[in-house]
Amino acid sequence: MVKKHIIANEQHWEKENIEEGFTLWFTGLSGSGKSAIAERVAIRLEREFDELVERLDGDIVRQHLTSDLGFTKEDRDENIRRVSFVAKLLSRNGIAVLASFISPYRKRRRKTREMVTNFIEAYVKCPVEVCEERDVKGLYEKARNGEISNFTGISDPYEEPEDPEIILETDKETLEESVQKVIDHLMLNGYIGRT
Ligand code: ADX
Repeated sequence: MVKKHIIANEQHWEKENIEEGFTLWFTGLSGSGKSAIAERVAIRLEREFDELVERLDGDIVRQHLTSDLGFTKEDRDENIRRVSFVAKLLSRNGIAVLASFISPYRKRRRKTREMVTNFIEAYVKCPVEVCEERDVKGLYEKARNGEISNFTGISDPYEEPEDPEIILETDKETLEESVQKVIDHLMLNGYIGRT
């Protein structure tokens, strides 16, 4: 048995024996730890659970798929719209998608949730003061100096998730604790670990 989907003008045949994947969507400020957590979760999913994993990461995706976009609200929403489409295609074909994007706008994240198979929102929660203190990429300093405009948390908004499936408080827990929380959620909800 196959189910037919139509996307734009293309036909997609979904085989019933292919198990659906999921999209784990990490949202949070720059420097909150989204990519670090996604990286560790990816390794564990591959090694311990034999999952097929694909990571979509803001910094990388913006070099390739969305290099034409900046950081206005319109451009950020377009960035997330395109990447959500990719996440949708992958996750419905059995891939575990780990997406890390600031994705600051609630309404846009809600649209992603509606379109993507098995969407799981993980809020990587960290006070802006702590992210700024870490300043891994030196961007907060540039934002304070006015060298970068529209910087999330400094001169641009971040709308906190209202009801995320997972909350990771990276100023209070270790990287491994955050990673374990994610793995536990996936196991408890039957996304991984089934034989
Ligand atoms: S999003 O808002 O469209 O979801 P995305 O996650 O793709 O953003 O990209 C964020 C990354 O771009 C940050 O981690 C940072 O390295 C870089 N960046 C450059 N300019 C900005 C800015 N004005 N605001 C936020 N991040 C920026």
